[in-house]
Amino acid sequence: MSMLSLVGVGPGDPELLTRKAERILREADIIATPVTAPGEQSQALGIIAELLDHHRQQVLPLLFPMRSDRAALLPHWQEACRLVAEQVRAGKRVAFIALGDPLFYATSLYLLEGMRREYPELPLEVIPGVSSLFAAAAEGLFPLAEGAEKLLVLPATAGEEMIREALLEAETLVLLKVKPAFEAVLKLVAERSDLALLFAERVGMAGQVILTDLADIAAHKPDYLSLMVIRRVSAVPAGP
Ligand SMILES: C[S@@+](CC[C@H](N)C(=O)[O-])C[C@H]1O[C@@H](n2cnc3c(N)ncnc32)[C@H](O)[C@@H]1O
Repeated sequence: MSMLSLVGVGPGDPELLTRKAERILREADIIATPVTAPGEQSQALGIIAELLDHHRQQVLPLLFPMRSDRAALLPHWQEACRLVAEQVRAGKRVAFIALGDPLFYATSLYLLEGMRREYPELPLEVIPGVSSLFAAAAEGLFPLAEGAEKLLVLPATAGEEMIREALLEAETLVLLKVKPAFEAVLKLVAERSDLALLFAERVGMAGQVILTDLADIAAHKPDYLSLMVIRRVSAVPAGP
């Protein structure tokens, strides 16, 4: 049956794909994948490469440039929706793959919004995926929250003020997209002596980096696929 599935493929390690995601990806006729520039290698596609049957399945790259200007992005989102709708209408099973979880700071949110608005008659489902923050915490053996604690998530681009406030409000703060605000975040963290840190880059991928020491983190040059988890030391359970 024709369907658009927004499929979370996890942060990098193919073993973190759910069984449901794997089944849907194997059954799909079209694997639609977001790219930020024509010809770009999709990270999400790399994760599921082993599952694909290139004789039967078609890969459909959809251009979602990485910009913050919604007005300039709108035509790209509309075109992506049109291309996907065309395939679903033709009876195809389309799987749109998303890094981590598809409803969590993901391009697939724009597709979901556009499809519901422009093509509400077409069947659509979402298959959740393991988010990068959970995989990072697991790799770093870094607790995220327990009991009545608060966990906040922000894109580091939210600005210094918001990050500072978040650090006062919650026991744990997760900062995604940390690269452009890296220096500012480290400066904020250095002002406090009660914070434990986890820096995670390319979790589950070649070149994975997991760091917990402030000096090591400061000496590192992060890339786009990196995040930080900051936790009040009093909230970190004492070791044995
Ligand atoms: C557009 S968001 C995608 C989030 C994704 N939907 C998720 O659930 O993890 C991109 C940000 O997610 C984080 N991220 C995604 N995959 C990652 C990975 N394998 N390792 C570290 N951070 C990752 C980085 O902070 C990156 O800047």
